Amino acid sequence: MTWTHHSLLDVDSLSREEMELLLDQAGHMEELLDRPIKKVPALRGKMVVNIFFEPSTRTRVSFELAEKLLGADAVNWSAAGSSTKKGETLRDTAWTLEAMGADAVVIRHGMPGAPWYLKSKLKRASVFNAGDGAHAHPTQALLDVYTLRKRLGSLDGRRVTIIGDVLHSRVVRSNVQAFTTLGASVVLSGPRTLMPREVEALPATYEPDPHRAVEGSDAVYLLRIQKERAEQGLFPSEDEYHRRYGADRELLARAKEGAFVMHPGPMNRGVEIASVLADGPESLILEQVRSGVAVRMALLYLCLGGGSGS
Ligand code: CP
Repeated sequence: MTWTHHSLLDVDSLSREEMELLLDQAGHMEELLDRPIKKVPALRGKMVVNIFFEPSTRTRVSFELAEKLLGADAVNWSAAGSSTKKGETLRDTAWTLEAMGADAVVIRHGMPGAPWYLKSKLKRASVFNAGDGAHAHPTQALLDVYTLRKRLGSLDGRRVTIIGDVLHSRVVRSNVQAFTTLGASVVLSGPRTLMPREVEALPATYEPDPHRAVEGSDAVYLLRIQKERAEQGLFPSEDEYHRRYGADRELLARAKEGAFVMHPGPMNRGVEIASVLADGPESLILEQVRSGVAVRMALLYLCLGGGSGS
């Protein structure tokens, strides 16, 4: 099949075949990461600008690594210290970057929809969504399905339980879409106060009791509890949250034998996840981080240089 995308705003733009092509390509990229000389010139001459209006460790660094490993020129831009502070609009910033010759812009922004807006304003450059508000985080979803598919062989008929702050999560919407596109079923769990009103409309089932939610699951995926929400009365306290919804050995024992533990990071240890699970043999958390480099390399390669797949 031929890869026709030049940008990625969310995973719902990808068919199952396209997603599998990208994940297979990520497998080739991961092989490069094991070589003594990891760098290849596939994107030599391309300029990618990473613009992050919100903090990030994993996404920002792995995009930058992916760009550099493929030979592109990576330029990092942050709102602090830029002309945004003088009132420049996102549109003018984007046009400025494009005028300087940017071939692609990777954007994280607190406003849902900002990457779509940026795409509509740019004439030529590709746009990659690195997380917009509580809306979408497509490359996180792709690295998550890549990681679990690598362990399980296929996601068809598998079950993934996602527990936590669904309401404020940009990860969960993209993840539900990606896991179900590849044939898995998704169960969501967490306090009703941390669920969006339209939870029943998502292609997933909602089970408020996490102990029931994980039954039969191949993977238990914890979402970060945004501590600042506690102040808004959405859950009583971190301790209480951990006792009721936090993942520990007792919770994992209810899942399928050999079930994996996943988390997008950054983690609140002792809140949504106990350290014994975060650092345990079932944890895929650091594998997810490594997958992030391979998946972002594959995405950049296909959208900016690779052209057609097999
Ligand atoms: N998972 C994730 O997006 O982490 P960062 O905020 O560190 O990029």
